[in-house]
Amino acid sequence: MPLARAHSVALLGVDGHVVEIEADVGDGLPGFHLVGLPDAALHESKDRVRAAIVNSDQKWPNQRIVLALSPATLRKAGSAFDLALACAVLGAKEVLPQAALDRTVLLGELALDGRLRPVRGVLPCLLAARAAGMERAVVPESALTEAALVEGIEVHGAAGLDAVLAFLQHGHALHRPGPVVHDEVVQPLDLADVVGQDDARHAMEIAAAGGHHVLLVGPPGTGKTMLAQRFVGLLPRLGAEEALALAAVRSVAGRLPGGDALSTVPPFVAPHHSSSMAALVGGGSGLARPGAVSLAHLGVLFMDEAPEWGAAMLDALRTPLEEGEVRLARAEGTVAYPARFQLVLAANPCPCAPAHDRDCVCPSLVRRRYLGRLSGPLLDRVDLRARMFPVTALSAASGEGEDTATVRARVHAARAAAAQRWSAFGWRTNAEVPGPVLRTRFALPRPVVRPLDAGLRAGELTARGADRALRVAWTLADLGGRDRPDEDLIETALYFRDRRAA
Ligand SMILES: Nc1ncnc2c1ncn2[C@@H]1O[C@H](COP(=O)(O)OP(=O)(O)O)[C@@H](O)[C@H]1O
Ligand SMILES: [Mg+2]
Ligand SMILES: [Zn+2]
Repeated sequence: MPLARAHSVALLGVDGHVVEIEADVGDGLPGFHLVGLPDAALHESKDRVRAAIVNSDQKWPNQRIVLALSPATLRKAGSAFDLALACAVLGAKEVLPQAALDRTVLLGELALDGRLRPVRGVLPCLLAARAAGMERAVVPESALTEAALVEGIEVHGAAGLDAVLAFLQHGHALHRPGPVVHDEVVQPLDLADVVGQDDARHAMEIAAAGGHHVLLVGPPGTGKTMLAQRFVGLLPRLGAEEALALAAVRSVAGRLPGGDALSTVPPFVAPHHSSSMAALVGGGSGLARPGAVSLAHLGVLFMDEAPEWGAAMLDALRTPLEEGEVRLARAEGTVAYPARFQLVLAANPCPCAPAHDRDCVCPSLVRRRYLGRLSGPLLDRVDLRARMFPVTALSAASGEGEDTATVRARVHAARAAAAQRWSAFGWRTNAEVPGPVLRTRFALPRPVVRPLDAGLRAGELTARGADRALRVAWTLADLGGRDRPDEDLIETALYFRDRRAA
């Protein structure tokens, strides 16, 4: 009985699962049956597979064809199975030897004329294939650079079904990837470009050192965007594993750059406030795509004009901020994407956004309410606030600010100190440490926390505000090479708190 097996990969979020496709071509009413939870797009592959086979000068068997995808319980979506489906059919017709299909994973959508079209998520698919013991992979030619990032699996790129058949039948060579390139010559933007704004620069340094989220408030044209863009330059480079995890997200989003796909520069993602919810947190039809929060994984999410984003969008950030991932509920089930980022929020002090506060035309109530649009639960996670002021001749004369390399050196030393202190607890940065831990196990002596007690008594500070200040104070201690904060550092930390009515 003619039976053949081919392999492809199903993606759930950034997790791939190898799928076995069994083809049975036999007697019975001519027809084409797909079994094993295929979605609508996969059903359409029947027509594509048939046309592609015929247009690649192969005979289409006018018989009863059953294609079973297993594991059957695994959800399978999209068009990436086309190539494997076609090869399984041709295997069952003994056009292709089964030995050529063994331990070979086949990825790609087929055009009607037999061309192999690119699909999203080739990188995580190959990671899964390698883990499942697959030895080689055939991918669309355009995915070769991306596929080459996965070591330990032999990768071949093809432009069309005919080339794949020649490869599997006769061993005719397909395209092989070139060496992995690292073209990180692009000079990152430097902090030295930012004139004045000592407070905000200091806040960015603390944020980078402690992993704190930060809010910058100031009139237009004061350098909020400039500073945010320079923030990633202060963060440590990604490790190899992290770079691969980020590349996997980009691959699924269809946003993996061709050149240096395995960049170790933390991402900087700046969605506009007119973005859709799907663009921010992920979604879309069919295979849910990762959104900005996931593209910013292990890097920085910059939300400019934060109060303009609207409550629903800002609220949607809470899960990723708390859990470091987003879960997207779909009709067919839930998909999770990683989303552990540092948030940089920027806001004008009021809706009319004048260059100078004195030119503001907003009624005082409007002015006060504007930043109030940022919800309490969101701001609870933002440990640092900094005000920015119009750049004056005076601040310009204050001399050159430090450059990125200088500040980064302090940031890295501080991060190392924090990581060591918390390593036994599984936290990497001060921002991750829950308030109660800082108040109990790592409680500071009474005299040191006096400013916090005073603020709480006077009602100027909430308990959460006190926790935020404590976290920041620990980062200031790390930056200063101290083993714990003193009273002065607590005062400095309090300086970077929320003073909305500014
Ligand atoms: N502090 C600053 N130092 C140097 N240039 C600045 C500064 N603030 C603003 N600029 C100039 O103004 C432009 C706009 O700054 P931007 O960062 O977009 O301001 P904002 O985001 O606060 O509106 C910058 O490209 C830069 O040329
Ligand atoms: Mg701006
Ligand atoms: Zn105003």
